[in-house]
Amino acid sequence: MKKIIIAIDGFSSCGKSTMAKDLAKEIGYIYIDSGAMYRAVTLYCLNHQLVNADGSIRETELQQQMKDIHISFRLNPETQRPVTFLNGANVEEQIRTIEVSSHVSPVAALGFVRQAMMEQQQKMGEEKGIVMDGRDIGTAVFPDAELKIFVTASPEIRAQRRYDELKAKGQSVSFDEILKNVEERDRIDQSRAISPLRKADDALLLDNSHMTIAEQKEWLKEQFNKATHE
Ligand code: DC
Repeated sequence: MKKIIIAIDGFSSCGKSTMAKDLAKEIGYIYIDSGAMYRAVTLYCLNHQLVNADGSIRETELQQQMKDIHISFRLNPETQRPVTFLNGANVEEQIRTIEVSSHVSPVAALGFVRQAMMEQQQKMGEEKGIVMDGRDIGTAVFPDAELKIFVTASPEIRAQRRYDELKAKGQSVSFDEILKNVEERDRIDQSRAISPLRKADDALLLDNSHMTIAEQKEWLKEQFNKATHE
């Protein structure tokens, strides 16, 4: 069967990565979480005093240090899930904190950061057989992807999902704070000048507000079967 590129874009916390990971595992494709790469750059900024008190980024310093930022993914042999590494250290947990979430949008809006991430992502997809999720995968990174999905759900439902996730990890967070973070990220993701979040014309729309994970999985598998048999 021919190998394809599957681009899954959409709003934050709408379950894109869960569905992308599950699909990749089932069909034997590589899964790449492009958001994890922007989060890793953000963690680097936080750890290297590149974030000003007002949340803005010290752009010149970051641009000079981009060459020192190495992001990679390794498979956890037990879970068979990819783990994010920043300069050789496992940062999978640290990049999911609310602190990183609330600083990532300005980092992801920087042109030189996007360019560097996009080049790495395109390299990862050279041999196809890849499922990548993010915001601009179907529009900018892989405009010729054979299967493009654009996922959405209401902000309240997405905030609740992230709240449950962080709670389960033992982080103390307030629902209102998360909802505000979700809405703010939607606004910034959609309005940034470079590669804003938008549905590619040829992407299939999936609103999963009222879908179970199983229903979603079945729908996605069906789209994959259609795309590979065309
Ligand atoms: O999917 P996520 O919440 O882990 O993404 C983190 C941030 O990175 C999000 O605010 C938007 C940004 N992002 C992006 O700009 N482009 C991508 N391809 C993926 C994520």
